[in-house]
Amino acid sequence: TIPVIIDCDPGIDDVMALTLAFAHPQLDIKLITTEPGNQTQEKTVYNALAFTSYMKQNIEVAKGLEAPIFRKLKVAKDVHGDDGLGGVHFPKPTINLSKRTAIEAMEEILLASDEQIILIATGPLTNIGALLLAHPEVKQKIKYISYMGGAAVGGNMSPTAEFNVYVDPHAAEIVFQSGIPIVMSGLDVTHKAYVTLEELGKIEAIGSDFAQKVVAMLKFYVNAIKPTVFHGPEYDKRIRLHDLCAVSYVLTPELFDGDDCYVAVELEGKYTAGTTVVDYGQRTGLPANVKVLHTVNREKFVEQFLEAIQTMSHH
Ligand code: BDR
Ligand code: CA
Repeated sequence: TIPVIIDCDPGIDDVMALTLAFAHPQLDIKLITTEPGNQTQEKTVYNALAFTSYMKQNIEVAKGLEAPIFRKLKVAKDVHGDDGLGGVHFPKPTINLSKRTAIEAMEEILLASDEQIILIATGPLTNIGALLLAHPEVKQKIKYISYMGGAAVGGNMSPTAEFNVYVDPHAAEIVFQSGIPIVMSGLDVTHKAYVTLEELGKIEAIGSDFAQKVVAMLKFYVNAIKPTVFHGPEYDKRIRLHDLCAVSYVLTPELFDGDDCYVAVELEGKYTAGTTVVDYGQRTGLPANVKVLHTVNREKFVEQFLEAIQTMSHH
Protein backbone atom coordinates (compact mmCIF):
# COMPACT_ATOMS: atom_id res chain seq x y z
CA THR A 1 0.00 0.00 0.00
CA ILE A 2 0.96 3.63 -0.53
CA PRO A 3 0.52 5.80 2.57
CA VAL A 4 -0.97 9.22 1.79
CA ILE A 5 -2.47 12.27 3.49
CA ILE A 6 -5.01 14.30 1.50
CA ASP A 7 -5.30 18.04 2.09
CA CYS A 8 -8.32 19.47 0.26
CA ASP A 9 -11.00 22.17 0.03
CA PRO A 10 -14.12 20.32 -1.17
CA GLY A 11 -15.07 21.61 -3.68
CA ILE A 12 -16.60 19.65 -6.58
CA ASP A 13 -13.39 18.36 -8.19
CA ASP A 14 -11.93 17.73 -4.71
CA VAL A 15 -14.80 15.33 -4.08
CA MET A 16 -14.05 13.64 -7.43
CA ALA A 17 -10.41 13.33 -6.35
CA LEU A 18 -11.49 11.77 -3.03
CA THR A 19 -13.68 9.33 -4.97
CA LEU A 20 -10.70 8.14 -7.01
CA ALA A 21 -8.63 7.77 -3.84
CA PHE A 22 -11.37 5.85 -1.99
CA ALA A 23 -11.83 3.51 -4.95
CA HIS A 24 -8.23 2.30 -4.77
CA PRO A 25 -7.51 0.33 -1.61
CA GLN A 26 -3.79 0.34 -2.42
CA LEU A 27 -3.86 3.93 -1.19
CA ASP A 28 -3.66 3.90 2.58
CA ILE A 29 -5.31 7.23 3.44
CA LYS A 30 -3.98 8.14 6.86
CA LEU A 31 -5.78 11.46 7.18
CA ILE A 32 -7.92 14.02 5.37
CA THR A 33 -7.35 17.67 6.25
CA THR A 34 -9.38 20.63 5.08
CA GLU A 35 -8.53 24.03 3.84
CA PRO A 36 -10.36 27.28 3.16
CA GLY A 37 -10.39 27.86 -0.60
CA ASN A 38 -13.32 26.88 -2.76
CA GLN A 39 -15.40 27.74 0.27
CA THR A 40 -14.80 28.75 3.89
CA GLN A 41 -13.19 26.32 6.33
CA GLU A 42 -16.55 25.75 7.99
CA LYS A 43 -18.06 24.56 4.70
CA THR A 44 -15.09 22.58 3.34
CA VAL A 45 -14.71 20.63 6.59
CA TYR A 46 -18.45 19.91 6.62
CA ASN A 47 -18.29 18.68 3.02
CA ALA A 48 -15.29 16.47 3.74
CA LEU A 49 -17.05 14.91 6.74
CA ALA A 50 -20.33 14.44 4.88
CA PHE A 51 -18.71 12.96 1.79
CA THR A 52 -16.38 10.63 3.70
CA SER A 53 -19.35 9.42 5.76
CA TYR A 54 -21.51 8.92 2.65
CA MET A 55 -18.71 6.81 1.16
CA LYS A 56 -18.53 4.77 4.38
CA GLN A 57 -14.82 5.46 4.79
CA ASN A 58 -13.45 5.28 8.26
CA ILE A 59 -10.80 7.99 7.92
CA GLU A 60 -9.81 10.75 10.32
CA VAL A 61 -10.90 14.19 9.08
CA ALA A 62 -9.14 17.15 10.71
CA LYS A 63 -9.82 20.84 10.37
CA GLY A 64 -7.12 23.16 9.12
CA LEU A 65 -6.48 26.88 9.28
CA GLU A 66 -9.29 29.38 8.91
CA ALA A 67 -7.67 31.75 6.44
CA PRO A 68 -4.71 32.14 4.11
CA ILE A 69 -1.42 33.10 5.75
CA PHE A 70 -1.39 36.68 4.53
CA ARG A 71 -4.13 37.41 2.01
CA LYS A 72 -7.83 37.79 2.68
CA LEU A 73 -9.72 34.60 1.74
CA LYS A 74 -11.34 34.63 -1.67
CA VAL A 75 -13.74 31.71 -2.24
CA ALA A 76 -14.89 30.22 -5.57
CA LYS A 77 -18.65 30.49 -5.09
CA ASP A 78 -19.34 30.78 -8.82
CA VAL A 79 -17.59 27.50 -9.60
CA HIS A 80 -18.56 25.40 -6.56
CA GLY A 81 -21.73 27.10 -5.25
CA ASP A 82 -22.75 28.55 -1.89
CA ASP A 83 -22.30 25.20 -0.18
CA GLY A 84 -19.14 24.23 -2.12
CA LEU A 85 -20.78 21.25 -3.84
CA GLY A 86 -23.02 22.89 -6.40
CA GLY A 87 -26.14 22.47 -4.27
CA VAL A 88 -25.85 18.65 -4.27
CA HIS A 89 -26.88 17.33 -0.91
CA PHE A 90 -25.14 14.54 1.03
CA PRO A 91 -26.67 13.20 4.25
CA LYS A 92 -25.47 14.57 7.58
CA PRO A 93 -22.00 13.32 8.55
CA THR A 94 -21.87 10.22 10.74
CA ILE A 95 -18.15 10.47 11.45
CA ASN A 96 -16.91 12.98 14.00
CA LEU A 97 -14.43 15.71 13.36
CA SER A 98 -11.00 14.84 14.74
CA LYS A 99 -10.07 16.33 18.10
CA ARG A 100 -6.69 17.16 16.59
CA THR A 101 -6.17 20.16 14.37
CA ALA A 102 -4.95 19.45 10.84
CA ILE A 103 -1.44 20.62 11.73
CA GLU A 104 -1.28 18.47 14.88
CA ALA A 105 -2.63 15.40 13.09
CA MET A 106 -0.27 15.80 10.12
CA GLU A 107 2.72 16.31 12.38
CA GLU A 108 1.94 13.35 14.63
CA ILE A 109 1.14 10.96 11.80
CA LEU A 110 4.23 11.92 9.79
CA LEU A 111 6.62 11.67 12.73
CA ALA A 112 5.16 8.34 13.86
CA SER A 113 5.42 6.76 10.41
CA ASP A 114 8.25 4.38 9.54
CA GLU A 115 7.69 4.89 5.84
CA GLN A 116 7.66 8.16 3.96
CA ILE A 117 4.17 9.47 3.20
CA ILE A 118 2.95 11.18 0.02
CA LEU A 119 0.97 14.38 0.57
CA ILE A 120 -1.80 14.94 -1.96
CA ALA A 121 -2.90 18.57 -1.95
CA THR A 122 -5.87 19.83 -3.93
CA GLY A 123 -6.45 23.24 -2.39
CA PRO A 124 -4.39 26.27 -1.43
CA LEU A 125 -1.29 25.16 0.48
CA THR A 126 -2.12 27.00 3.71
CA ASN A 127 -2.08 23.95 6.00
CA ILE A 128 1.07 22.41 4.56
CA GLY A 129 2.84 25.80 4.54
CA ALA A 130 1.98 26.28 8.22
CA LEU A 131 3.00 22.69 9.02
CA LEU A 132 6.43 23.22 7.48
CA LEU A 133 6.95 26.48 9.37
CA ALA A 134 5.91 24.95 12.68
CA HIS A 135 7.50 21.51 12.31
CA PRO A 136 10.27 21.49 9.68
CA GLU A 137 11.41 18.11 11.05
CA VAL A 138 8.48 16.44 9.22
CA LYS A 139 10.12 17.17 5.84
CA GLN A 140 12.14 13.98 5.84
CA LYS A 141 8.94 11.96 6.30
CA ILE A 142 7.33 13.37 3.15
CA LYS A 143 8.11 11.37 0.01
CA TYR A 144 6.74 14.06 -2.28
CA ILE A 145 3.79 16.41 -2.61
CA SER A 146 1.38 15.73 -5.46
CA TYR A 147 -0.13 19.15 -5.89
CA MET A 148 -2.92 20.53 -8.01
CA GLY A 149 -2.14 24.17 -8.47
CA GLY A 150 -0.27 26.72 -10.53
CA ALA A 151 0.27 26.98 -14.26
CA ALA A 152 3.29 27.48 -16.47
CA VAL A 153 1.11 29.34 -18.97
CA GLY A 154 -2.18 31.16 -18.37
CA GLY A 155 -4.28 31.49 -15.22
CA ASN A 156 -7.90 30.95 -14.26
CA MET A 157 -8.05 33.65 -11.56
CA SER A 158 -5.95 36.33 -13.19
CA PRO A 159 -4.29 36.32 -16.60
CA THR A 160 -1.42 34.31 -15.14
CA ALA A 161 -2.48 32.91 -11.73
CA GLU A 162 -4.28 29.66 -10.98
CA PHE A 163 -6.88 29.68 -8.16
CA ASN A 164 -5.14 27.58 -5.46
CA VAL A 165 -1.87 29.50 -5.65
CA TYR A 166 -3.69 32.82 -6.03
CA VAL A 167 -5.60 32.24 -2.78
CA ASP A 168 -2.45 31.72 -0.70
CA PRO A 169 0.73 32.51 -2.64
CA HIS A 170 2.78 32.82 0.55
CA ALA A 171 1.93 29.31 1.67
CA ALA A 172 2.65 28.02 -1.83
CA GLU A 173 6.07 29.68 -1.89
CA ILE A 174 6.97 28.19 1.52
CA VAL A 175 6.11 24.75 0.15
CA PHE A 176 7.79 25.24 -3.24
CA GLN A 177 11.06 26.36 -1.61
CA SER A 178 10.97 23.70 1.12
CA GLY A 179 13.23 21.20 -0.61
CA ILE A 180 10.47 18.56 -0.63
CA PRO A 181 9.99 17.08 -4.12
CA ILE A 182 6.84 18.47 -5.73
CA VAL A 183 4.82 17.20 -8.65
CA MET A 184 2.73 20.04 -9.97
CA SER A 185 -0.52 19.29 -11.77
CA GLY A 186 -1.09 22.84 -12.95
CA LEU A 187 -3.57 24.09 -15.52
CA ASP A 188 -1.12 23.04 -18.26
CA VAL A 189 -2.10 19.43 -17.63
CA THR A 190 -5.46 19.76 -15.85
CA HIS A 191 -7.00 21.52 -18.84
CA LYS A 192 -6.23 18.32 -20.75
CA ALA A 193 -7.79 16.18 -17.99
CA TYR A 194 -11.44 16.69 -18.84
CA VAL A 195 -14.62 14.76 -19.44
CA THR A 196 -16.95 15.73 -22.25
CA LEU A 197 -20.71 16.19 -22.03
CA GLU A 198 -21.08 12.86 -23.87
CA GLU A 199 -18.96 11.12 -21.25
CA LEU A 200 -21.22 12.64 -18.62
CA GLY A 201 -23.92 10.49 -20.25
CA LYS A 202 -21.84 7.39 -19.47
CA ILE A 203 -21.71 8.42 -15.82
CA GLU A 204 -25.47 8.93 -15.80
CA ALA A 205 -25.90 5.44 -17.27
CA ILE A 206 -24.25 3.90 -14.18
CA GLY A 207 -27.61 4.73 -12.63
CA SER A 208 -26.63 4.81 -8.95
CA ASP A 209 -27.53 7.51 -6.45
CA PHE A 210 -23.88 8.47 -6.35
CA ALA A 211 -23.55 8.65 -10.16
CA GLN A 212 -26.56 10.98 -10.25
CA LYS A 213 -24.94 13.20 -7.67
CA VAL A 214 -21.70 13.28 -9.67
CA VAL A 215 -23.59 14.31 -12.79
CA ALA A 216 -25.45 17.04 -10.91
CA MET A 217 -22.21 18.42 -9.44
CA LEU A 218 -20.41 18.36 -12.79
CA LYS A 219 -23.32 20.06 -14.55
CA PHE A 220 -23.18 22.88 -12.02
CA TYR A 221 -19.42 23.07 -12.47
CA VAL A 222 -19.38 23.15 -16.29
CA ASN A 223 -21.76 26.09 -16.32
CA ALA A 224 -19.20 28.14 -14.44
CA ILE A 225 -16.48 27.78 -17.08
CA LYS A 226 -15.59 31.15 -18.51
CA PRO A 227 -15.32 31.34 -22.30
CA THR A 228 -11.81 31.91 -23.63
CA VAL A 229 -10.94 34.07 -26.59
CA PHE A 230 -8.62 31.50 -28.12
CA HIS A 231 -10.42 28.23 -28.10
CA GLY A 232 -14.13 28.50 -28.83
CA PRO A 233 -17.33 26.80 -27.63
CA GLU A 234 -16.19 23.16 -27.86
CA TYR A 235 -13.29 23.87 -25.48
CA ASP A 236 -15.52 25.75 -23.07
CA LYS A 237 -17.72 22.68 -22.50
CA ARG A 238 -14.87 20.52 -21.28
CA ILE A 239 -15.33 19.51 -17.66
CA ARG A 240 -11.84 19.81 -16.23
CA LEU A 241 -11.20 17.53 -13.30
CA HIS A 242 -8.22 19.46 -11.99
CA ASP A 243 -7.88 17.88 -8.56
CA LEU A 244 -8.27 14.36 -9.86
CA CYS A 245 -4.84 14.67 -11.52
CA ALA A 246 -3.10 14.93 -8.13
CA VAL A 247 -4.56 11.55 -7.07
CA SER A 248 -4.28 9.92 -10.49
CA TYR A 249 -0.57 10.76 -10.66
CA VAL A 250 0.08 8.91 -7.39
CA LEU A 251 -1.79 5.84 -8.66
CA THR A 252 -0.63 5.88 -12.28
CA PRO A 253 2.31 8.23 -12.92
CA GLU A 254 2.77 6.60 -16.33
CA LEU A 255 -0.33 8.43 -17.58
CA PHE A 256 1.48 11.76 -17.22
CA ASP A 257 4.48 13.56 -18.70
CA GLY A 258 6.32 16.51 -17.27
CA ASP A 259 9.59 18.40 -16.97
CA ASP A 260 11.78 19.12 -13.97
CA CYS A 261 12.06 22.90 -13.58
CA TYR A 262 12.78 25.61 -11.09
CA VAL A 263 9.48 27.16 -9.98
CA ALA A 264 8.88 30.17 -7.71
CA VAL A 265 5.68 31.93 -6.72
CA GLU A 266 5.23 35.63 -7.42
CA LEU A 267 3.98 37.12 -4.14
CA GLU A 268 3.31 40.68 -5.28
CA GLY A 269 2.57 42.24 -8.62
CA LYS A 270 -0.15 44.41 -10.06
CA TYR A 271 -1.19 41.65 -12.47
CA THR A 272 0.88 38.69 -11.44
CA ALA A 273 0.48 38.02 -7.68
CA GLY A 274 -0.04 34.29 -7.17
CA THR A 275 1.61 33.26 -10.43
CA THR A 276 3.88 30.23 -10.56
CA VAL A 277 6.95 31.35 -12.47
CA VAL A 278 8.17 28.23 -14.27
CA ASP A 279 11.74 28.46 -15.50
CA TYR A 280 11.48 26.20 -18.55
CA GLY A 281 14.45 27.88 -20.21
CA GLN A 282 16.74 27.58 -17.16
CA ARG A 283 17.25 31.36 -17.10
CA THR A 284 17.67 31.55 -13.32
CA GLY A 285 20.31 28.84 -13.20
CA LEU A 286 18.59 27.52 -10.07
CA PRO A 287 18.14 23.78 -9.59
CA ALA A 288 14.81 22.16 -10.44
CA ASN A 289 12.46 21.90 -7.44
CA VAL A 290 9.27 20.82 -9.20
CA LYS A 291 8.16 18.28 -11.78
CA VAL A 292 5.77 20.34 -13.89
CA LEU A 293 3.27 18.06 -15.61
CA HIS A 294 2.06 19.06 -19.06
CA THR A 295 0.47 16.00 -20.64
CA VAL A 296 -2.01 13.30 -19.62
CA ASN A 297 -3.36 10.24 -21.41
CA ARG A 298 -6.93 11.54 -21.35
CA GLU A 299 -8.61 8.32 -22.47
CA LYS A 300 -7.07 6.24 -19.69
CA PHE A 301 -7.65 9.04 -17.19
CA VAL A 302 -11.38 9.17 -17.99
CA GLU A 303 -11.59 5.37 -17.88
CA GLN A 304 -10.01 5.40 -14.43
CA PHE A 305 -12.51 8.03 -13.27
CA LEU A 306 -15.55 6.13 -14.61
CA GLU A 307 -14.34 2.93 -12.96
CA ALA A 308 -13.97 4.75 -9.65
CA ILE A 309 -17.56 6.02 -9.81
CA GLN A 310 -18.72 2.51 -10.65
CA THR A 311 -16.75 1.03 -7.73
CA MET A 312 -17.90 3.64 -5.25
CA SER A 313 -21.53 3.25 -6.35
CA HIS A 314 -21.69 0.04 -4.33
CA HIS A 315 -20.82 1.70 -1.08
C1 BDR B 1 -8.49 24.51 -8.54
O1 BDR B 1 -9.29 25.53 -7.96
C2 BDR B 1 -10.44 24.96 -7.39
O2 BDR B 1 -11.57 25.65 -7.83
C3 BDR B 1 -10.48 23.52 -7.78
O3 BDR B 1 -11.01 22.72 -6.72
C4 BDR B 1 -9.05 23.19 -8.08
O4 BDR B 1 -8.39 22.76 -6.90
C5 BDR B 1 -8.43 24.71 -10.03
O5 BDR B 1 -7.84 25.93 -10.35
CA1 CA C 1 -9.59 22.03 -4.89
